[in-house]
Amino acid sequence: MDNRDFDAAAFADYLHRHETKDLLRFLTCGSVDDGKSTLIGRLLYDTKLLFEDQLATLQKDSMKHGTVGEDIDFALLVDGLEAEREQGITIDVAYRFFATDKRKFIVADTPGHEQYTRNMATGASNADLAVILIDARKGVLTQTRRHSYIASLLGIKNVVLAINKIDLVDYSRDVFDKILADYDSFAHELTFQSIQPIPMSARFGDNVTQRGEKLGWYDGPTLIEHLEAVDVSSDAIHKPFRMPVQWVNRPNLDFRGYSGTIASGKLTKGDELVVAASGRTSSVKAIVTYDGEKESAIAGEAVTVTLADEIDISRGDLLSEVTHRPEVADQFSAHLIWMHDEPLMPGRSYLFKIGTRTVSGSVTEIKYNVDVNSFQRLAAKKVALNEVSVVNLSFREPIAFDAYAENPQTGGFIVIDRLSNLTVGAGMIDFALRRASNIHWQAIDLDKKARGELMAQRPAALWFTGLSGAGKSTVANLVEKRLFAMGKHTYLLDGDNIRHGLNRDLGFTEADRVENIRRVAETARLFVDAGVIVLCSFISPYRAERRMARELLEPGEFVEVFVDTPLHVAERRDPKGLYKQARQGRIKNFTGIDSPYEPPEAAEINLAAGMAPPEDLAEQVIHYLEEHGYLG
Ligand code: ADX
Repeated sequence: MDNRDFDAAAFADYLHRHETKDLLRFLTCGSVDDGKSTLIGRLLYDTKLLFEDQLATLQKDSMKHGTVGEDIDFALLVDGLEAEREQGITIDVAYRFFATDKRKFIVADTPGHEQYTRNMATGASNADLAVILIDARKGVLTQTRRHSYIASLLGIKNVVLAINKIDLVDYSRDVFDKILADYDSFAHELTFQSIQPIPMSARFGDNVTQRGEKLGWYDGPTLIEHLEAVDVSSDAIHKPFRMPVQWVNRPNLDFRGYSGTIASGKLTKGDELVVAASGRTSSVKAIVTYDGEKESAIAGEAVTVTLADEIDISRGDLLSEVTHRPEVADQFSAHLIWMHDEPLMPGRSYLFKIGTRTVSGSVTEIKYNVDVNSFQRLAAKKVALNEVSVVNLSFREPIAFDAYAENPQTGGFIVIDRLSNLTVGAGMIDFALRRASNIHWQAIDLDKKARGELMAQRPAALWFTGLSGAGKSTVANLVEKRLFAMGKHTYLLDGDNIRHGLNRDLGFTEADRVENIRRVAETARLFVDAGVIVLCSFISPYRAERRMARELLEPGEFVEVFVDTPLHVAERRDPKGLYKQARQGRIKNFTGIDSPYEPPEAAEINLAAGMAPPEDLAEQVIHYLEEHGYLG
């Protein structure tokens, strides 16, 4: 039997059989060495949800590997499934299901490799409880603290401290007590509701589902007893109603429904709802679910809602209760957990997904990083893999949200890299920054179109990118002179010049270059708004920032000109003698030498600049502008 079918079929069956029991979701944190796989395997085995044929294979494999003598090696079970998953299915978190007479369980098994924070954050969404594994021989490690801190940040209220491998320290009560004292001195600062320490040996089954005979001194519950009894009743139902719209369901002209999963609260036919960001209201006409129409629905249910009035609602909007509205803002203070090898860069544009809404934005300031061992605040310029930071965020558009502490469903977000589409961080909104809320756009009656028409031109930013010495400034200069001669209104922003004034405070580290381009792009936008054709000549080595500049402008206003001179040609020219110095190591972070250049993938204009004289290159640019109607 195929193991993938096993999961789906078993789950459906299990749901059916256990429909009336309540459900506990938990995750396990710890590295492979702590015995996590063994523990999960043991739980599944002891609760008898293993299929016979899987058991047979397991017994055979264990004999073959012989790692634990005649006993079954439970780690083989889970690791085996994992290996299979790695071959075909690309999720990092495996959900396993089991049940006892009292409760049913879903355990998120998160692999303990380097990227564990990412997997942990995925597995923790919706988890009621975290089992934090500690190897009794090693005690509380930095990793234990990090896991606990992240679990608490993610809003997990209940913790089991599984002090495992107690057999390897002679079932010692002293060791247990000491680890517990260690953990308590750290964890009292976290916001857990309950911490249940349990001495156990997952390998021998002590205190997992059966009492450990050699642990007579321990009178607390076994793991399964605790999992069966712990009170984790969700308070999402008692929070104000929130539903992020997943999609607008419009099968024909007569029906318009808004589909999504209710994030919190309760919805009843006739309820008054508000679209948080626009402030428009209407009342609920019908609630449709898989089981047909219903009078009401609660948090966790997937529904399609129809409303009494035709109001403008699209994917990403947050439907809310009228009397308890979420906040709407575009600047925040937030906690952030970074999950990527490449550190977070302040100023760089990322995508932020909150609920079903995705907006672009950036970290405007790293306030401090948090030392997960001591909770001390550390001064920081970047946030590296697995680090936790408190930052200020700025989104391009306002979003509706609740503070994470009030409602994790509407206050949590993930950070996505724009180019790779990878999830690179997870965060929690602490509060909105009010400094932005009283600055509104001043409506100006004269717009850029009117200004451009007066000058008989279509305003645009011509963005010249390329290596130092590629000829960007030379070509930009020639283009500007030609435009000037044609009576066009232009301005030239040039890297070297801007770095003497506006950007005098910036150097050439990655972070400084990001900020350099951010300021220049904002400046270019002002020029475009003034109706001008602005020429920008900057190495601008990163795709992400060029894309950010493009997105600041409207379609057609950003014309990327790739001055494509091969490195060896630019280096041979070396107009300012900088390549020579860079080769000698006297200039650091020099583009093309010890700092990267990411060539454009789809520039509007590509200039093969190593070959032709600059006048010809300028002509190509003018030709493009004429062809595309920029010059009136
Ligand atoms: S960018 O990378 O941030 O876009 P920008 O175009 O503003 O760079 O400035 C590049 C100019 O600064 C180069 O033409 C060169 O004259 C000078 N420069 C000094 N140090 C460096 C360096 N380490 N890397 C690149 N350019 C440098």
